[in-house]
Amino acid sequence: MLVNAKDMLTKAKAGKYAVGQFNINNLEWTRAVLETAEELRSPVILGVSAGAGKYMTGFKTVAAMVDAMVDSLGITVPVALHLDHGTYEDCYKCIEAGFSSIMFDGSHYPIEENIEKTKELVAVCAEKNMSLEAEVGSIGGEEDGVVGAGECADPAECKMIADLGVTMLAAGIGNIHGKYPENWAGLSFETLDAIQQQTGDMPLVLHGGTGIPAEMIQKAISLGVAKINVNTECQLSFAAAVREYIEAGKDLQGKGFDPRKLLAPGTAAIKATVKEKMELFGSVGKA
Ligand code: 13P
Repeated sequence: MLVNAKDMLTKAKAGKYAVGQFNINNLEWTRAVLETAEELRSPVILGVSAGAGKYMTGFKTVAAMVDAMVDSLGITVPVALHLDHGTYEDCYKCIEAGFSSIMFDGSHYPIEENIEKTKELVAVCAEKNMSLEAEVGSIGGEEDGVVGAGECADPAECKMIADLGVTMLAAGIGNIHGKYPENWAGLSFETLDAIQQQTGDMPLVLHGGTGIPAEMIQKAISLGVAKINVNTECQLSFAAAVREYIEAGKDLQGKGFDPRKLLAPGTAAIKATVKEKMELFGSVGKA
């Protein structure tokens, strides 16, 4: 059964660890993340961007697949199915499709409009027993067509949004989607510290988890981050493993072209990346 993310994140914030959100793209991805979470007894959040939802033919397909797979694989750890960077319209589509959690990314609206729309969704999510993530400031780079300038969040605005009763808050602190450039200035811990002082117990979300050095991840967790999103890193490990298989000519040997064989190394590579992240985030054994 899918759960909302409130309980797992409240425990993570109190226990000073973070739950990983791993974005999914297809059946292999979903299976790899679910099996790793179960093997490591870790709570987990499956992230779905609008682009990935479209690729999988719609949010309803995704919800039906994830729900059935949790059952078929006998998954017993808490699993939340979460819309990543949702528009206002997509939030409603996912509520209807059977997601257990949504992110409304109103960061590109003026703060008054972000507040107004977030407030409305807080009420809807409370009624449906769903969790809601809001965003202030923006995450740099591009993810599935969502582009952000990467400005740091204003702690006072974070407090305004947190006070609306959202479950978790994503705040820009110099983080970027995708690979970090050579000249990246690093995370702004000053901003994160100020945000935590304003928002207290609110679980904070760190987007752009790919490529952030371990010490920065640990420091971010010590300053209130309880959810960390990872997408690109699983894509890179999947692609590298499939490339290696093909470059070794294994698809040309026997029935090596069978998609179940061809994609197996990619699936195993995603599992290894997810395991590494869960160990780093401290969520192993916390289910
Ligand atoms: P990365 O692709 O940089 O890991 O970011 C993932 C993310 O923040 C999803 O919202």
